[in-house]
Amino acid sequence: MNSAFVNDMFSSISRRYDLLNDTLSLGIHRIWKRELISTGVAHLRKVAGSKVLDLATGTGDLAFGFAKRTPESVEIFGADFCAPMIEEAARRQAAQGMARIQFRQGDALALEFSDQSLDLVSVSFGARNFADISKGMSEIARVLKPNGLALILEFGRADSFVGRAFEKFNSAWLPFWGGLLTGNSDAYRYLHRSSEGFPSGEDFLALCKKAGFASCEYRRFFPGNVFLYSLRK
Ligand SMILES: C[S@@+](CC[C@H](N)C(=O)[O-])C[C@H]1O[C@@H](n2cnc3c(N)ncnc32)[C@H](O)[C@@H]1O
Repeated sequence: MNSAFVNDMFSSISRRYDLLNDTLSLGIHRIWKRELISTGVAHLRKVAGSKVLDLATGTGDLAFGFAKRTPESVEIFGADFCAPMIEEAARRQAAQGMARIQFRQGDALALEFSDQSLDLVSVSFGARNFADISKGMSEIARVLKPNGLALILEFGRADSFVGRAFEKFNSAWLPFWGGLLTGNSDAYRYLHRSSEGFPSGEDFLALCKKAGFASCEYRRFFPGNVFLYSLRK
């Protein structure tokens, strides 16, 4: 899907995005994100890393999570190309008083960071929206230091009966509730379709290897259609 469409879509739902996330996932997205944050924090401790980018940060869930669990010396950036999403993140930041996160507008396909400058890059539920996924992943590889880590949390194809039943349920549930709460059911139809089309599991690992990652692995979360990819440069 092209970038302008995705940007407009997230602009239209930004004010209710957090409410929708909690409602539609029944709060489970917080558990998946906590797992990603724990993996990231463990990596930062091991490499004494000090620079983190949460890309496609949206309203900043992961950036806030890293800020809560790392020392002040760790620099945290949150970037998203959608201005209204970043404004929501800034609103939360003001409310929580977490001044050290640097939220900014930025495109995953043309990162403003220099080569080999970051220890950790995270993306939750953003990679499938990149207009060019390979380009997005090679940009992430470019800005990571040698031995840096990318953690990508994303939907994908389920491998179990329960997972597939859940996907079927979501294909009706997401547009219905999303439409009711934001007035934009098309956005939620798109969000569901984009996860079905996203290369998941081994297919995504193969794409990441081509994009410049040396070691790639993934874990699958219940109900089988959520993946956490750990990609090392
Ligand atoms: C489903 S939201 C996820 C937000 C947040 N990471 C979370 O997990 O709640 C996807 C986000 O990706 C952002 N996004 C999509 N393509 C992008 C790109 N090329 N560069 C930067 N952000 C992008 C959208 O603006 C949106 O905020």
